[in-house]
Amino acid sequence: MQNNKLFVANFKMNKTNTDVAEYFSVFPIPDKNYKNKVVFCVPSTSLYFASAYMKGEKMSLGAENIYYGKSGAFTGEVSADMITDCGAEYVIIGHSERRGIFNETDEIVNKKVISALDAGLNVILCIGETMPEREGGQTESVLSRQVEQALQGVSDYNKIIIAYEPVWAIGTSAVANNEQIAEVIAMVKKIVDVPVLYGGSATEKNADEILSIENISGLLVGGAALDPVRFSKICQL
Ligand code: PGA
Repeated sequence: MQNNKLFVANFKMNKTNTDVAEYFSVFPIPDKNYKNKVVFCVPSTSLYFASAYMKGEKMSLGAENIYYGKSGAFTGEVSADMITDCGAEYVIIGHSERRGIFNETDEIVNKKVISALDAGLNVILCIGETMPEREGGQTESVLSRQVEQALQGVSDYNKIIIAYEPVWAIGTSAVANNEQIAEVIAMVKKIVDVPVLYGGSATEKNADEILSIENISGLLVGGAALDPVRFSKICQL
């Protein structure tokens, strides 16, 4: 049985509000004896709707992205204050899909981190290397650059959580092994001592093994979190 772990669901671009309602009709509400915490990061179209399903302090809502501007002429974007207003307490920043598909640089990630912290949000900062980077021996330099640049100008790390998500392990069923994950956790903690989660093909089958790693603080789950039964098993609910 795990204690004090954080389980984060990343719905990505999935689920209408009808689907969200169905999801929470199945997902069990953690009682006061539950020792972990579950965060649901949902599309911005479902944030306000999903906020009604967050019961008690063991369930929290998060967004999957923000823009760093406070307000103004940024057609189509959503600010930190806007997601906070919808009930979000967390936000994922720097996911590899945002970095890769939407060309988010370390500089943009940094601006988003600052903006989220200014709004009082908890930041789930994603870092991860690609397979060519790992094979080229660049894992440490890539990850340390991502951490250092994302956190430039940040002095209070209380609301920072880092999620190590090797790009080659996301949605592929190729999970990093415990030794690789442990190495990265130790490396990150040398730079900044904050909770470190693992993400990348985590499922109800491998969660226990991954969580046996010393110093791991939880999991960020994509595919397997789309099913409330599978995700509740991962969360040990
Ligand atoms: P996955 O995604 O669990 O489907 O690999 C994780 C993520 O991208 O956050």
